[in-house]
Amino acid sequence: MTLDLVVLVSGSGTNLQAILDAIAGKRLDARLHLVLSNKPGVKALDRARAAGIATQVLSHKDFANRQAYDVELVRVLRAALGDSKHACVVLAGFMRILTTIFLDAFPGRVINIHPSLLPSFPGVNAQQQAVSHGVRISGCTVHLVDAGTDTGRILAQAAVPVLASDDEHTLGARILEQEHQLLPAVLQSIAEGKLVLPESH
Ligand code: GRF
Repeated sequence: MTLDLVVLVSGSGTNLQAILDAIAGKRLDARLHLVLSNKPGVKALDRARAAGIATQVLSHKDFANRQAYDVELVRVLRAALGDSKHACVVLAGFMRILTTIFLDAFPGRVINIHPSLLPSFPGVNAQQQAVSHGVRISGCTVHLVDAGTDTGRILAQAAVPVLASDDEHTLGARILEQEHQLLPAVLQSIAEGKLVLPESH
């Protein structure tokens, strides 16, 4: 079944690009209804436009608090998704913490990609944390989003070696290659019904 998607971004959008390429290449049976950024002018928005996908900027700076932002975010995404009952919201480098107002509006359907093997190294600078700790293996995790920071149920992971010569950038690039494979693959598993998401997060 074709998966209805919205993707939230804040930056370069290489994971968004991987989703766009997978859809175009028929490796992902999904319809991307909207790409929304909390920051104007980011490359992710250019990538969406180039693929003919609707875009919207919703700046958190225009709202008094997280709750007010999330109320509007829910309204915008619901409008974009129409009456789709089984849509997924994908956080692809979206650098905002979401409140329960948002999570309760899409229970068990909000998916994030994180550049570490969770539960190790949640939060920001995951690649730097991995290098600093001297771990020999790191990777990426696709997980459901709950009210914690990178604590939701793990859906899939991919591992990469950490080399003695690595810094956060070289490790980050190696992890990103895996992210670009893993995220579209997980979404396709959901589309095919091979990966069944719970009804609540
Ligand atoms: C990725 O490393 C992702 O794991 C993290 O933010 C980064 C987004 O990169 N959540 P991009 O915008 O998809 O290029």
